[in-house]
Amino acid sequence: MEMPVIQNLLSVESQRTLAEIQVFEEIDSTNAEAIRQIQSGNTANRLVIARSQSAGRGRRGRSWLSPLDAGIYMSLVRQFTLPPDALQGLSLLTALSLKSALNRLGVSGLKLKWPNDILFQKKKLAGILLELQHREQASYLVFGIGLNIALPEQVMQEIDRPVTDITSIADYIPDTNLIVATVINQLCSNIAEYERNGFSSFKESWNEADYYLNRDIVIQNGERRIIGKSLGVDSNGALLMQTATGVESINGGEVFPSLRELSD
Ligand code: BTN
Repeated sequence: MEMPVIQNLLSVESQRTLAEIQVFEEIDSTNAEAIRQIQSGNTANRLVIARSQSAGRGRRGRSWLSPLDAGIYMSLVRQFTLPPDALQGLSLLTALSLKSALNRLGVSGLKLKWPNDILFQKKKLAGILLELQHREQASYLVFGIGLNIALPEQVMQEIDRPVTDITSIADYIPDTNLIVATVINQLCSNIAEYERNGFSSFKESWNEADYYLNRDIVIQNGERRIIGKSLGVDSNGALLMQTATGVESINGGEVFPSLRELSD
């Protein structure tokens, strides 16, 4: 991955948004690095990319295995003036942006899993971790994206859930600089639309891409477990579920296809 190549492939809008692009050979975590930079006063919008991560972070305290050049590991930092309850919609929006960008590059058959996993035939292709930071009255959002490109077989087996990578699902593998730029272009343009109209303009496309729409699922949210049928997301990005006692709106937690898979 090369900074000038990525820079050249960015749209005018993304170039205007990003003050800097940094590419590290190795780092603990691009999200952690982005947060350190914000806290040390380096607050301009930026993109932090690494060819490998030694302590990649996943959602819910999990780790994200990040061997050298086996995936794209990047964090987009943007200053935000949105209310904190906008976060959920933005995390769904990131997944949708990633899916659209990959589609543009010829990778099709992708589905979403609420809130923000990208799946190919129920196997996880990419994950997203949004982290919110505050410094001197301002808020910053770190959009962490991990996309599997060519995971070594041994690493695939180390991961305790079904995973896939671009190499296994695409006819040809686009240049990683092009993938990074296409994803950032799509994300920046969607964020701009989100800032104007919120999540509602994306609700329909999100639901169309949702693998679990109208399927029976189980949500585990801390100690709470909700069983029902997924009715898709509402205009804030909350997941609606038809349960035995009525429709519930879910704002956090993880989707499982069945109770059996939850206890695996
Ligand atoms: C998930 O658990 O699904 C989210 C995974 C997010 C991984 C990416 S890789 C780049 C960025 N830096 C991190 O430490 N995590 C995110």
